[in-house]
Amino acid sequence: MKILVVGGAGYIGSHMLKRFQDTNHKVEVLDNLSTGFETNCLDFTLHKCDLANREEVYSILQNNYDLVMHFASYINVGESYINPQKYYENNVVNTLNLLNCMVDLKILNFVFSSTAAVYGEPKSNPISEINPMTPVNPYGQTKAIVENILKDYDNSYGLKSISLRYFNACGAHPDGTIGERHDPETHLIPLILQAASGRKDKITIYGDDYPTKDGTCVRDYIHVMDLAEAHLLALDRLSQTQLSDVYNVGIMRVLVLEKLLRLLKKSLIKKMDIEIQK
Ligand SMILES: NC(=O)c1ccc[n+]([C@@H]2O[C@H](COP(=O)([O-])OP(=O)(O)OC[C@H]3O[C@@H](n4cnc5c(N)ncnc54)[C@H](O)[C@@H]3O)[C@@H](O)[C@H]2O)c1
Repeated sequence: MKILVVGGAGYIGSHMLKRFQDTNHKVEVLDNLSTGFETNCLDFTLHKCDLANREEVYSILQNNYDLVMHFASYINVGESYINPQKYYENNVVNTLNLLNCMVDLKILNFVFSSTAAVYGEPKSNPISEINPMTPVNPYGQTKAIVENILKDYDNSYGLKSISLRYFNACGAHPDGTIGERHDPETHLIPLILQAASGRKDKITIYGDDYPTKDGTCVRDYIHVMDLAEAHLLALDRLSQTQLSDVYNVGIMRVLVLEKLLRLLKKSLIKKMDIEIQK
């Protein structure tokens, strides 16, 4: 298949590209490099373009792609409260640009990186896909809106999609060439490593009244290469069944954190301050 990876220069997109190197798919990348890095695109053709530029997006999409995989969005929940406009514009309006160009050009297969933030405060745990989408922050809202658009675009234009809802990605490619790289970094594991290696004074963990031993929350982590595998499976499923669907992608990988904390306790890495805030 000929595939366009939108947002392929970012953290998860670049690990997807690594995974594609072991397949026969023909892959190209569209990215504006706002938070991504050109070197993450490996040897794949990079179309440097902003999704806001509909004419340019249309012209790139004329390269006969069979499927689009969409990783491009803003991802910081805290920032989405401070500046929701930025999030609705990029995550919804710009995604709509992409979808409209696809529909116009009859590219009708789409794999979407959604988020488990679409669930908000779920009624049951573990969360299954039949839980309603009741997001509690603007970031989650933007993803829920796109998922709803996808339902309508399937009904009316035959655009087939698989949305993958996941919580926290973590880890790096086993060959060590790429890994998690956000600037500024807001994700817990890289922050722990920065603090442990002395590049940060301390880390702050938010929340102290969860029903756990020390009151801090439990989070779901999934390795970024497992995520890449899930996106590849979604692609296969979509091309085989031509059925739109939604899947949770998660695994209780608190063990990763526990292992890190054990290492810290053994003082294998520099001692650091952990501050717990409400
Ligand atoms: N990182 C996580 O833990 C996590 C968890 C759940 C869902 N997701 C979803 O996965 C996707 C990828 O996340 P990530 O951590 O790799 O983020 P990232 O910021 O590293 O990657 C996003 C990429 O999209 C590009 N981009 C953003 N806006 C663009 C635009 N208007 N035009 C063209 N390119 C644009 C950026 O330059 C960047 O390369 C996002 O959609 C995010 O919502 C991430």
